[in-house]
Amino acid sequence: MTKAFYPGSFDPVTYGHIDIIKRAAKLFDTLDVGVLNNSEKLPLFSVEERVKMLERICEDIPNVHVLSYSGLLAEYTLKSGTDVIIRGLRAVTDFEYELQMSQTNRKLNPGVDTIFLTTSLEYAYLSSSIVREVAYYGGDVSNFVPEFVAETIYKKFSGKN
Ligand code: PNS
Repeated sequence: MTKAFYPGSFDPVTYGHIDIIKRAAKLFDTLDVGVLNNSEKLPLFSVEERVKMLERICEDIPNVHVLSYSGLLAEYTLKSGTDVIIRGLRAVTDFEYELQMSQTNRKLNPGVDTIFLTTSLEYAYLSSSIVREVAYYGGDVSNFVPEFVAETIYKKFSGKN
């Protein structure tokens, strides 16, 4: 059994993340999607809100489970018995940070490897921060996130939730 873990901020989850989740779920026996609970960052959505959105998206993928984690990724992977960390690579600009993170994590937990999935071309430009910005100015984010996520973002910016 190979246990994979896909960590991230998912603030909010985008079609780019969903593409990685679906592809990774086919490659590994189990895939946990982990939302980082980081008290230093001020996210748009609470951890609970982000977990809920991901749960709804993953409900039909039987080997995927959504959770939240806090603290060091390497420590979490050690205590959870994770074999593989999954990360998406969009462009060369992601590479330096991802390389540094994967090497640090392996130094801290030599039992874990990071496997990178290259983002599908149609989502190569996409990021949660771009989605937040477009939605903040009232732009159309329907090509970037599922309909119910878009509605949740607009509600958040209008102060209705
Ligand atoms: O979606 P993101 O923001 O690119 O995900 C980054 C994330 C959450 C995977 C990473 O920042 C993380 O797991 N941080 C937890 C703290 C940690 O382990 N920091 C050292 C990384 S080498």
